[in-house]
Amino acid sequence: MEKKNIDWGNIGFGYIPTEARFVANYKDGAWEEGGLTDEATITMTECAGVLQYAQTCFEGLKAYTTEDGKVVCFRPDLNAARMADSCRRLEMPVFPEEKFIDAVDQVVKANLAYVPPFGSGATLYIRPFMFGSNAVIGVKPADEYQFRIFVTPVGPYFKGGAKPITIRVSDFDRAAPHGTGHIKAGLNYAMSLHAIVDAHKNGFDENMYLDPRTRTKVEETGGANFIFITKDNKLVTPKSNSILPSITRRSIMYVAEHYLNMEVEHREVYFDEVKDFAECGLCGTAAVISPVGKIVDHGKEICFPSGMEEMGPVTRKLYDTLTGIQMGHLEAPEGWIRVIA
Ligand code: PLP
Ligand code: COI
Repeated sequence: MEKKNIDWGNIGFGYIPTEARFVANYKDGAWEEGGLTDEATITMTECAGVLQYAQTCFEGLKAYTTEDGKVVCFRPDLNAARMADSCRRLEMPVFPEEKFIDAVDQVVKANLAYVPPFGSGATLYIRPFMFGSNAVIGVKPADEYQFRIFVTPVGPYFKGGAKPITIRVSDFDRAAPHGTGHIKAGLNYAMSLHAIVDAHKNGFDENMYLDPRTRTKVEETGGANFIFITKDNKLVTPKSNSILPSITRRSIMYVAEHYLNMEVEHREVYFDEVKDFAECGLCGTAAVISPVGKIVDHGKEICFPSGMEEMGPVTRKLYDTLTGIQMGHLEAPEGWIRVIA
């Protein structure tokens, strides 16, 4: 199969439409079988639940070309399960988890020409999403929904790839106590748009959100969880019920413990202790592991000893091990890698 003529090494994290996407509709209490289409445009009523009351959720995962030329994806079962959790919280019908995984296979297989080659630095980002599609004017859930998956080749989420980024402590919250921070609802991202535009205007790459109740504990950024490395080589990741349970973070915790023999702590992390960590990074499907060099809290700077030039040494080991598993040159734990083609 001939690959598309794309400058794989120089693409950013943007949308490049491909030939095929998956669509299934929910009506009269049931999902139709669904299938592939080349139609990238969606037409719906002006009063659709998604347009009026933001009834939508999404997922993000990636397909990779391995060293031996297979196309695989990483833990799609966890994305299917998390989307089911998002749907339940938003009063949306769950798209069956096995069908979710099968639909991912179908879309990736239909777009093999867009899966970046091994070693190119790019990957195929897979975006499943669902929205309320019929007219809703009183505040209530829609009766009809559409589930879709499109794919797009992507490069690094942060310009500069593995170069450490600078983030600031945000004055805005992205989630409320007992709110929707733990699910992948579009509304959480709408909440973060003003904060990210303002961060960029002020020269920062991202926002660090603190817990909305006490503003003393680290939560996450707009699109990734945090990892910290202590001076004695432990991995520490914040625990909170208002952050998204990142699949990358859960995988890194396993890799740290079982591949790198590190101690792992998943616990509340007070902002006051951040200055004492040796390394800091953001982790997620889009972010992979992006090193953080500096955190600015209203003019007060925390500069990690790993500096602004390179990923810290432990973050690097975690990065190499995780991506080694994803790209197929390290053996994966049982069930982590799904071979698609
Ligand atoms: N946190 C937020 C708010 C996100 O949007 C994402 C991206 O999916 C993550 C964390 C990382 O999650 P995952 O590793 O499952 O991609
Ligand atoms: C992902 O990593 O898949 C996300 O959804 C994060 C988003 C900011 C692109």
